[in-house]
Amino acid sequence: MSENAKLHYQGKEFELPLIHGTEDEVAIDIRSLRNDSGLIAFDPGLGNTGSCKSKITFIDGEKGVLRYRGIPLEAIESHPNFVEVAWLLIFGSLPTRAEYQRFSRSLTDTANIDEDMKHHFTGFPRSAPPMAELSAMLSTLSCFHPEFLEVEDPCEVEQVAARLISKVRTLAAYAYRRSRGLPYNYPDPSLPYVANFLHMMFSKPYQQYILDDEVMSALNMLLILHADHEQNCSTSTVRMVGSSGANLFASCAAGVSALWGPLHGGANVAVIEMLEAIHKGNMTAEQYVALAKDKDNPVRLMGFGHRVYKNFDPRATMLREVSEKLIKKMGTNDPLLSIARRLEEIALNDSYFIDRQLYPNVDFYSGIILRAIGIPTNMFTVIFAIGRLPGWIAHWYEQKQETGGRIWRPRQVYTGNTRSSYSSRASRGWEEV
Ligand code: SDX
Repeated sequence: MSENAKLHYQGKEFELPLIHGTEDEVAIDIRSLRNDSGLIAFDPGLGNTGSCKSKITFIDGEKGVLRYRGIPLEAIESHPNFVEVAWLLIFGSLPTRAEYQRFSRSLTDTANIDEDMKHHFTGFPRSAPPMAELSAMLSTLSCFHPEFLEVEDPCEVEQVAARLISKVRTLAAYAYRRSRGLPYNYPDPSLPYVANFLHMMFSKPYQQYILDDEVMSALNMLLILHADHEQNCSTSTVRMVGSSGANLFASCAAGVSALWGPLHGGANVAVIEMLEAIHKGNMTAEQYVALAKDKDNPVRLMGFGHRVYKNFDPRATMLREVSEKLIKKMGTNDPLLSIARRLEEIALNDSYFIDRQLYPNVDFYSGIILRAIGIPTNMFTVIFAIGRLPGWIAHWYEQKQETGGRIWRPRQVYTGNTRSSYSSRASRGWEEV
């Protein structure tokens, strides 16, 4: 299909080519717009703007569809393996046995961080936000792995991806242990990915953490569901930073900072704080929903709404099932789960949310699962970052492989002073110096 879009402006007609995606998405190619017409497009929040072409993840927000390299998440649900999905996202196909074994070996062999780097944690206050530590320490990895500041071939990418995906667990666990004055647990090379993370988080001296298959399956699934989500805020940040030629460590450290925000990855913390406020009797679920609907009130129903999904976020549906199964298996009874279900029931029957197509998103149930595992609230967004890291690496690598890739440099519409004069300092009360 070669038809173009046509733009009529100041008596001229401008032809704008169309770009067609494999899922029938159509985009207007405006790369020559300013040169041809002098015009730029204006799209704050970029909700109508494609920043790139990508083969990694497809989302159909209207239908609530999410696929990694074309594979629906539901197909992965029955046998969740985060390392297998990380390979799929980064290298484009499911790993062969040999590839999986090689990558797993590399993750195991590189789980430790340099002993000098471990001492960096003592430089942070114990009350330091773990996301601040994670961003700093991911960037610091570049100081200890200068051999990966420049990566070109798939073999080097595999090696640096393994180091980042493996060490991010160690850094997260060390931040948690340090914040509680607990001794660090070294990675255990006999344990698979998620089990090793739980060991580093919760084992005590001379008392190994007891691994539970249900817990490991739940955390594998949670990490998989967070692994990528096309051009979200943090992934776009990684692409923007990477577009300058910045190394993968620096680009992922920037992604952590973007994810930290309460409108993005920080929402899982805000959801639990919301549920706890309701549970502590500060208000009922109905009162909270009323607040979230009040335009004069900044309160939002956290964990609800999404820029792309105008239907159920499939991840929320799967995480709700995981949370109920895990809590039932653990025999715990988390009152926050029943409050979450109540909020969902109220909102899904309320015209305010229905009219705005606001449904539960990935953050609505993830905190319930993490609480059940014993992960503290201030570590929730760190867990999101551990999950999202393979997606960030995949997008950074995909962009790096593009021929003729350009540095991201958006334009603006200037609305400031046109011409102003420099008033003398004396006229501004300065003493003449
Ligand atoms: C993630 O992009 C991704 O893919 C992100 C993510 C990923 O995997 O990377 O999916 C992860 O970030 C999920 C989202 C987590 N954030 C939250 O749960 C915070 C609460 N949700 C919202 O703040 C909001 O829904 C956003 C930020 C998620 C989306 O914001 P948009 O697309 O900019 O929507 P908007 O702010 O323009 O809202 C449209 C309308 C507004 O009302 P009106 O002005 O039309 O009257 O919906 C209202 C908003 O006030 N609205 C909400 C609401 N979300 C939107 N009202 C109450 N509660 C909410 N949660």
